[in-house]
Amino acid sequence: MTRRFPADFTWGAATSAHQIEGAAGLRGASIWDTFSRTPGRVVGGHHADVSADHYHRYRDDVRLMAELGLTAYRFSVSWPRVQPDGSGAIRQKGLDFYRRLTDELLAHGIQPWLTLYHWDLPQALEDKGGWPERDTAYRFADYAAAVHEALEDRVHTWATVNEPWCAAFLGHASGEHAPGRRDPAGAVRAAHHLNLAHGLAVQAIKPSRVGGCVNLYAITPATGDDHDAARRIDGLQNRFFLDPILKGGYPEDVLDDMSIELDFMKCRDLAVICQPIDLLLVNYYSRFTVSSRPGPASAAAAPTVTASPWVGSEHVSFVSGGRPVTAMGWEIDASGLLEVLTRVAFDYRPIPMVIAENGAAFPDVVSGDRVHDPGRLAYLRDHLAACLSAIQLGIPLEGYFAWSLLDNFEWAWGYGKRFGLVHVDFATQRRLPKDSALWYAEIIRQNKRHE
Ligand code: NOJ
Repeated sequence: MTRRFPADFTWGAATSAHQIEGAAGLRGASIWDTFSRTPGRVVGGHHADVSADHYHRYRDDVRLMAELGLTAYRFSVSWPRVQPDGSGAIRQKGLDFYRRLTDELLAHGIQPWLTLYHWDLPQALEDKGGWPERDTAYRFADYAAAVHEALEDRVHTWATVNEPWCAAFLGHASGEHAPGRRDPAGAVRAAHHLNLAHGLAVQAIKPSRVGGCVNLYAITPATGDDHDAARRIDGLQNRFFLDPILKGGYPEDVLDDMSIELDFMKCRDLAVICQPIDLLLVNYYSRFTVSSRPGPASAAAAPTVTASPWVGSEHVSFVSGGRPVTAMGWEIDASGLLEVLTRVAFDYRPIPMVIAENGAAFPDVVSGDRVHDPGRLAYLRDHLAACLSAIQLGIPLEGYFAWSLLDNFEWAWGYGKRFGLVHVDFATQRRLPKDSALWYAEIIRQNKRHE
């Protein structure tokens, strides 16, 4: 990639607490601990008790980041490590870990980007009803304030809730993620309370630099007759989160599609959710092609179909767009990244954005001390080219975080799906930068050289 990114472009990689930290004995239980222990929920019965053991190996991992030349690192704080029961006393030892981690990052010249919620709700709060209950949003605001007070002097940028769509719909409608519920109305309640939690946390964190984090998809109707299907999926997947955060309202057409009681939404909530934010963190992975004809879901989008029962398989099915897929079965389409960024800038406003996650799982080939991953390398290359196109169009894209720094616990898929730039041998905890990591490091180096 010869063209140059702006000198102040942020070059990052991302992870989340539950997926890499391990050290489960040094924190409270989360919904993912319970879910992983429930037979049949996670492939292979895997759990994240040890995972990549980052809690004990963070110094080595920060050294790796420095070797790659990263200028920023996006990680999440484990709520049950800091507040084991999700309310009440703060566990200082938990906060100390994040003090040590951020100190180490800063000592290596790497900006800490902190996400407050990446899906590991304390089980004690789930026992009280979890995200479908309004009180969970207030507990989250208290936790956010405590973390902010402890770390505000070290954190560069704060993110509130990671991918609220997944937490709400995969967690409460399809049941593919923790807590594994299958209750569509509860999923909408959860979505609203996650949005509310975002707004309350922004209030708690200001005036520090803060944004929300959404997973956006490019969506294409399969034929000219399928625009309504595309509208429905775009509505639920993208606009149900972008509209309240950036415009202060829910999309009318999506509310109309939902034949459920919406009395849990209070008018004043929208003003809270729509707090001014400094940037939008966008996670982008794939494009969906949708059809109005009923039919079997393609592997790529199966979660969305089952997660949206009130949209109704009688209205929407997901079909192949004919593109190559990753090991997740997700279609690869870098043009979709440019499309979602353009869409935010034009349909909402040109708010500063970063790509907070982008990457791919592939079956890597380990050969001696090299890991060959040409598929991931090509994926990153093409998506970074799309980032550059966005910047050239004048879209305020300020950074890129590859998902993920390390191979990790890929939720319901366990350790079988590897997204890392760095290979992790989970038996020995040996780290090995993959070819894609070496390539990414070179791109960063070339772009820094011109600063
Ligand atoms: C988005 C999530 O934020 C992250 O936790 C997950 O591992 C990646 N997508 C890949 O599925």
